[in-house]
Amino acid sequence: MSLSRRNFINKSFAIGSLFPLISMDYARISKFNSNLNSNASSDEKYWNSIAKLYHQNKEFINLESGYFSPSPEIVKNYWIDFVNDINESPSYYMRTRQNDLRETVRSRLAEYSGVSNEEICLTRNTTESMNIIIQGIKLNQGEEILRTNLEYPNMIQALDMREKRFGTKIRIVDVPIHPESQEQIVNLIIDAINPKTKVLLVSHMVFLNGQVFPVKDICKRAREKGIETIVDGAHSFSHVDMDISDIGCDYYASSLHKWLGAPLGNGLLYVKKDKINRLWPLFGDTQNDEDNIMKLEHFGTRPCSNQNSIIAAIDFTLNIGKQKKSDRLKQLQSRWTSALKNENNIILNTPLEKGQSYGIANVGVKGMTPPELSDTLFNKYKIFTVPINGSRGIYGIRVSPNLYSTMDDIDKFIEAMLNIAA
Ligand SMILES: Cc1ncc(COP(=O)(O)O)c(C=O)c1O
Repeated sequence: MSLSRRNFINKSFAIGSLFPLISMDYARISKFNSNLNSNASSDEKYWNSIAKLYHQNKEFINLESGYFSPSPEIVKNYWIDFVNDINESPSYYMRTRQNDLRETVRSRLAEYSGVSNEEICLTRNTTESMNIIIQGIKLNQGEEILRTNLEYPNMIQALDMREKRFGTKIRIVDVPIHPESQEQIVNLIIDAINPKTKVLLVSHMVFLNGQVFPVKDICKRAREKGIETIVDGAHSFSHVDMDISDIGCDYYASSLHKWLGAPLGNGLLYVKKDKINRLWPLFGDTQNDEDNIMKLEHFGTRPCSNQNSIIAAIDFTLNIGKQKKSDRLKQLQSRWTSALKNENNIILNTPLEKGQSYGIANVGVKGMTPPELSDTLFNKYKIFTVPINGSRGIYGIRVSPNLYSTMDDIDKFIEAMLNIAA
């Protein structure tokens, strides 16, 4: 029974007991879910049972989870129950439960990421988190920020605006989409640092083609030179087999509605404890200490039902296992890339070696523009992808399946591509 159908006002129990009921319901579903956690990642029966935990539009195969991934039903229902319950007891919820639950979410997210809850706060998305860092980082006149040529447009604009507003010089280092090795990327970036460079901004996973930058080595080498590091982790959180704590960066941002599968409008911002006082808040705050991460989360009233549901998305992922999920995403990608990579008319725009990409890859067909290819896939084969039409010289479609994808979906995609490229 949906908790929303319970008449809150007429119930004789104290309001505090309403929310434990949600946890009880969730614990029951979690137990059911954990029963699924017993098979090897290669077992399609197991992964098909996971895929069935999502409701999908049956009109097409969705291979574009990179923008926004759906939540599995148990996460969606957990969220809807909160929407209903908070709507029934609106200000009462805000005044009595909101803060405690937000703290629980922050702690769970910190634990999941291997960092302290003094280093993490909740935002709406990567763009918001990255703007807090980019607009707020304290730099002196003449100091520079270095970024790569493969950064996301919102970040480029945030940096360019900072340049216009504060005169901070932004420099760009070009890195290839088919590097000789990960070391080549590290060397190119580190060699581009000059005495004025104080901050380095890199994506963990490139949005255009799923290429993974060796952020751990980049951050280590930058740190040795006294350079601060900002990692755009929009696509890496709950996808790449690396926690925020493993990366060794100073600042990290991600969107939880992408690979974690939390409801839309959830993001995180990580700032290393001793770097918090290096940032001005984007939204005015004078109540918190300079080194308190909460000074960066002064956003006013927000949709807390969305935020609360981060817990359910974390539990769902942990029931599967973080490493197992990451391996599965690579497995889905490997299935189609290995089937297509040696075909004559196929162009793969993603490095495929271990650690250089996971679930996302980009592919083109000779003689077809990316919009023509994605339109053909959709109109003729009912497969949804997104075209990348020449951005940074990349021509192809981005393909990003997720845990709701089956190998059957992937095989249909392979067949369609073989037909189109024949
Ligand atoms: C690398 C990268 N950074 C940032 C973003 C922005 O994410 P959001 O729109 O959730 O803020 C995206 C979106 O796809 C992205 O790919």
